[in-house]
Amino acid sequence: MKILVVGSGGREDALAWRLSQERDADVFTTPGNCGTARWGENLEGDPEEVAARLEPDLIVVGPEAPLAEGLGDRLRSAGFAVVGPSAEAARVESSKSFAKELMKRAGVPTARSLKARNLEEARKAVAEVGRFSESSDSPRRGVVVKADGLAAGKGVTVCRTEEEAENAVREIFVEHRFGEDSPVAVIEEILVGREASMLAVVSSGTFLLLPGAEDHKAVGDGDSGPNTGGMGAISPTPVLTSEIEEKVSERIFQPMVETLFREGLDYRGILYAGLMISPSGDPSVVEFNCRFGDPEAQAVLPRVRGPLLDVLQACATGERLVGRLEVDSSAVACVIAASEGYPVATRTGMPIEGLSLDDTVDETGLPEVFVSGVKRRGDIFVTAGGRVGGFMGRGETLGAALEIAYRSLEKVRWEGMHFRRDIGRREKRGLVV
Ligand code: AMP
Ligand code: GLY
Repeated sequence: MKILVVGSGGREDALAWRLSQERDADVFTTPGNCGTARWGENLEGDPEEVAARLEPDLIVVGPEAPLAEGLGDRLRSAGFAVVGPSAEAARVESSKSFAKELMKRAGVPTARSLKARNLEEARKAVAEVGRFSESSDSPRRGVVVKADGLAAGKGVTVCRTEEEAENAVREIFVEHRFGEDSPVAVIEEILVGREASMLAVVSSGTFLLLPGAEDHKAVGDGDSGPNTGGMGAISPTPVLTSEIEEKVSERIFQPMVETLFREGLDYRGILYAGLMISPSGDPSVVEFNCRFGDPEAQAVLPRVRGPLLDVLQACATGERLVGRLEVDSSAVACVIAASEGYPVATRTGMPIEGLSLDDTVDETGLPEVFVSGVKRRGDIFVTAGGRVGGFMGRGETLGAALEIAYRSLEKVRWEGMHFRRDIGRREKRGLVV
């Protein structure tokens, strides 16, 4: 069976690896990277042309941008079985206001919000939603300003003062920082608690939950510095107890997936809920994504046992999904090592010392590293992206998994390399706000 994975990051490396473990699976990645080449063949070219040449039995689209632009629709019209929603349904990620309206109709818990189409509306919304008069140490003080469209994680500002909120709305409506002629913003209240991610395979109004995970978005230890695509992930996470996972399933996925189906949206793919778990253990949605998370996929996929390929095939062909995914009881950690300057001004092309793409962490075949941005230059590896690699560990406990991941990471170096030293260790601190 031929499977084509679309994308070139660590998430796609993890997908290609996990799918290559399935019986009779022949995995191809387009364009892929030097990590994905370990599990099959990398194919260059436009994904539609590659698919036409290869005639795969299943296509899994990794990133959000091609889904938002309709790659899923075009591949399906050409007769392929695709894991990845239609452009219309991908708006759960590509339009924050669309997602908010859908959540309202579905009764899914999320931050109270207002939509704004110009500077004046945005200022009014900030005044209405913002909690600027509370005592200065209240974690809820302030407002969140979000640009409506895809902004690669850069369109969201958590504003603690009115001045910050004014700057954030000016960035959207005056400076047009997010590149739209008629921008839209969502202004919402600040949610308090701890963040976690839950993903599900969705098809025809049904879903199967993948194991829960926790990302670490800020670049620095203790959640300091600007947000990145994600500096590390763990699965499971102490934030998502089985009781909370049950609430996420009943209060969030169930109504959301049913509403998508009822409203005629062709959702065949992965639905990712970015969550805030309140101090009393109640989940709210911070955002939805229309695909696997990166680096959540690296932490979650090694824990999925059983026939993942069958489930993805059922999803791609629009079957109703029944049962549960079998999950391994081990803990998995992924620690990202990044290039100098990431995520602000990334410097790439640095020779990498000590990197081996052949080593595995244990008998499950989990590789030491899932590759995000690495290229071969002659017979050496050089950095080729902001995030360079996700170093992996698996163990009976989270601590054991982290130890293995950090040990692998410490064998590798390049000029300007940086990583967080506190991945998976948040539970020792108080609330993350
Ligand atoms: P998003 O792109 O919507 O996930 O937002 C990026 C990050 O901003 C999230 O991971 C949160 O850390 C933070 N954030 C977004 N919305 C809120 C909110 N309503 N309350 C608190 N933090 C938020
Ligand atoms: N790790 C966050 C994301 O994939 O959006």
